Amino acid sequence: MCGIVGYIGDQEAYPILIKGLHRLEYRGYDSAGVALINNESDLSVYKAKGKVVALEQLCSEKDVSGTIGIAHTRWATHGEPNEVNAHPHFSQSRHLALVHNGIIENYKSLRAELEKNGFTFCSQTDTEVLVQWVEHMQNTHHCDLYTAVQLALKNVVGAYAIAILDKTNPDQLVCARKGSPLIIGVSKNESGRSEFYLGSDATPIIEYTNKVVYLKDEEIAIMDRTGRLDITNLANVKQTPQLCTLQMSLDQLEKGGFPHFMLKEIWEQPNALRTCIRGRLNIVDKDVILSGILDNKDKFINCRRIIICACGTSWHSALIGKYFIEEAAHIPVEVEYASEFRYRNPVIYPDDVVIAVSQSGETADTLAAIQLAKSKGAFLYGICNVIGSSIARATDSGTYLHVGPEIGVASTKAFTGQVITLGLLGLAIAKEKGTLDDKIFHMLVDELQQIPDKMQWTLDHNKDIAHFAQMFTYCKNFIYLGRGYNYPVALEGALKLKEISYIHAEGYPAAEMKHGPIALVDEEMPVVVIAPKRGMYDKVVSNIQEIKSRKGKIISVVTEGDTVVKEMSDYCFVIPDTRDCFVPLLAVIPLQLLSYYVAIAKGRNVDQPRNLAKSVTVE
Ligand code: M6R
Repeated sequence: MCGIVGYIGDQEAYPILIKGLHRLEYRGYDSAGVALINNESDLSVYKAKGKVVALEQLCSEKDVSGTIGIAHTRWATHGEPNEVNAHPHFSQSRHLALVHNGIIENYKSLRAELEKNGFTFCSQTDTEVLVQWVEHMQNTHHCDLYTAVQLALKNVVGAYAIAILDKTNPDQLVCARKGSPLIIGVSKNESGRSEFYLGSDATPIIEYTNKVVYLKDEEIAIMDRTGRLDITNLANVKQTPQLCTLQMSLDQLEKGGFPHFMLKEIWEQPNALRTCIRGRLNIVDKDVILSGILDNKDKFINCRRIIICACGTSWHSALIGKYFIEEAAHIPVEVEYASEFRYRNPVIYPDDVVIAVSQSGETADTLAAIQLAKSKGAFLYGICNVIGSSIARATDSGTYLHVGPEIGVASTKAFTGQVITLGLLGLAIAKEKGTLDDKIFHMLVDELQQIPDKMQWTLDHNKDIAHFAQMFTYCKNFIYLGRGYNYPVALEGALKLKEISYIHAEGYPAAEMKHGPIALVDEEMPVVVIAPKRGMYDKVVSNIQEIKSRKGKIISVVTEGDTVVKEMSDYCFVIPDTRDCFVPLLAVIPLQLLSYYVAIAKGRNVDQPRNLAKSVTVE
């Protein structure tokens, strides 16, 4: 949610900043801006409403020289998305320019105080208050920028990642974070001179260096052209920067011939999941090795229950995880919306294990939920995709998805990565607890190993649906139905359609229809039913009958070779047979494709749907 880029070094900053904004655009895309200090120490700020290309267009007629700069792509919180509210924001004297990700909760009282001191404001943003507050500290304490930032942040309540320029000191870049991510890329150019790059995540940095420092909460960093990188915390205690190596390649951030990241990520799933299970499934010895579980066996064996906290798509995968862990490891599992859990004073015991599931590892509500659990003494486990993310670092242990960067706002490969990781986790705990019969355990290991190939089969057999999807362009509503393991898949299919095509869709447990929602069904209502030839097949067939008798249009997901449901359906997606617990990994694929092609037929921007951002770092 909002992206920050920064640079200081010998190169021209503008091209680096613009490229970085393009890479971060998935985090927010309602306006963008850039601030640069040129050789004459002029501080220029350019801002535009809309996407980064609008900013580029504006800047094509401006002086964008300078070897130090900061930039921002915004997802509006305070103040509508327009040029005035876009970042960077100037301070009153226009000596300072600041970009910000997060929310300053006490901005109203700070603003009132500043107004008493003669400050005036151009925008409605909390960010303008912050930059003015830093200037106020400089004025009242006659201190340098670094100290002023430190003093200012001590008065701030809320979350922030900031980067700030001071035209009176064009050789320094200052940044800080609390609750919003910020990464510093460290490199030396050919002449051996230091350069620093800033990013909300690693995507704008990886092109230049793979050596990074993850700034921690309440840390402030100063970088200068001599290679100085000093970090202190708000209490002014010096911290030692810890250099890490990024595990990411540039081609993972490109579309690789696909028209959209979402479609690329859908097709990447077989390989992404192969990487996810590599080294974790031992097919020869029929074993599951998850170091996060092995190192903390006792916590899992002796826990009273597991609570999984997540949001959105991650919540759907958590629900599938619950069904599997309960079935395989016989541990009660509760799945919680992190945003509800964090505010409702839940009962948490010290012998609970709390699992956070999050692609980005930065979702503010999920982070707050585990902080609450930590304060009650629970053991925290993270299932994240982004390496080094806040949730990954805040948890006691965890497992990374290793499905590669997910850029499309609609989550696809992270969902299947989470489902398979929760499957591995359930199996690993079941092995330690001895809750599964050996034969069943081995059979599940074998089946899991085959899932990537079965995903490929599913993609190959359902790829030509662009024409079919066009028929639904004019629909106002969709219903998605599933039972057991496929109920969360119905929720996920409905979410995918809503977020990228803007068609209203509801996911329901199939048998719940007759308790109310069936009243919605008429000849105009497409009903997507996940009906594999497994588990509750006969019951789902009856549920389909109920819809058909009300003239609903049936789109089904069936097991290869099934004819019964096929004949009852207006359109059918096929998937290969697999165990009940792994059906979601295959059944979700046609639903991802359906939402993609309906959205394309409606002319939507699937990678950057309206009002959304990839990583939700505000509550
Ligand atoms: O990064 P997280 O997994 O914590 O994100 C949670 C949700 O914001 C996310 O899954 C969201 O629902 C996606 N846009 C769904 O496609």
